[in-house]
Amino acid sequence: MGIAGRKIRPLVAGNWKMNGDKASLAEAEAVRDALLGPFASLAADVMIAPPVTLLAGFAAALGGGPVLLAGQDCHPRPCGAHTGDIAAEMLKESGASAVIVGHSERRADHGETNAEVRAKAEAAHRAGIGAIVCIGETKDERIAGLTLDVVRRQLKESMPEISTAANTVLAYEPVWAIGTGLTPTAEDVKDVHAAIRDVLVDLFGMEGDKMRILYGGSVKPDNAAVLMAVENVDGALVGGASLKASDFLAIVRTYVGE
Ligand code: 13P
Repeated sequence: MGIAGRKIRPLVAGNWKMNGDKASLAEAEAVRDALLGPFASLAADVMIAPPVTLLAGFAAALGGGPVLLAGQDCHPRPCGAHTGDIAAEMLKESGASAVIVGHSERRADHGETNAEVRAKAEAAHRAGIGAIVCIGETKDERIAGLTLDVVRRQLKESMPEISTAANTVLAYEPVWAIGTGLTPTAEDVKDVHAAIRDVLVDLFGMEGDKMRILYGGSVKPDNAAVLMAVENVDGALVGGASLKASDFLAIVRTYVGE
């Protein structure tokens, strides 16, 4: 499907991970300025997930503009004795309209299970913000031919029952493609996204047909157009290339309607 034939409004989200300081606001402002100017005909939503320390400051500078903001993780509970954790309600109050949950770095570094990821996504819904639920296979799982099994299982176990196209976005991020410069072929991405779409429709009926499925993992200006043109790829979750406005905008540009 070409960009022009899309039924689902795409989302291009930048996950800054543990990068950025106050001076990085300039990059986010450059993205905003492009969306207000040369990219005004953009047929996509654009989001940045900065570290939580920057969220409120970014919201003060960018709030109400075309750049949406997101958190990178949340705790399942709304408050309590959870040192170092952040509630979805806190993210919302700080200006986030969504939160990434279940990123493979959270799953690997903090041992997060599908059940915990699901509880975090439910917390986002409770707080009234969107959940961006991440799934993806490891290199060993891919080599063993288990990609579709792993992805289907993560999907079924991580998605809250009340997920809708408005409150939940799915992000397929093969772990071996994250930060490595490696990407699956367009054909592989097509197969996995088709399998994800089938499970979403099984789980959520018509709503599953409208949910956005993002691809993430080494999306760069030079491969974005090919990856984003794949059927059932409804946008991108971009790591390293989202830190510089010029690179991020080159990816976002894929969706400028002409
Ligand atoms: P890279 O784009 O740096 O590979 O990171 C992808 C990612 O993990 C986004 O969440």
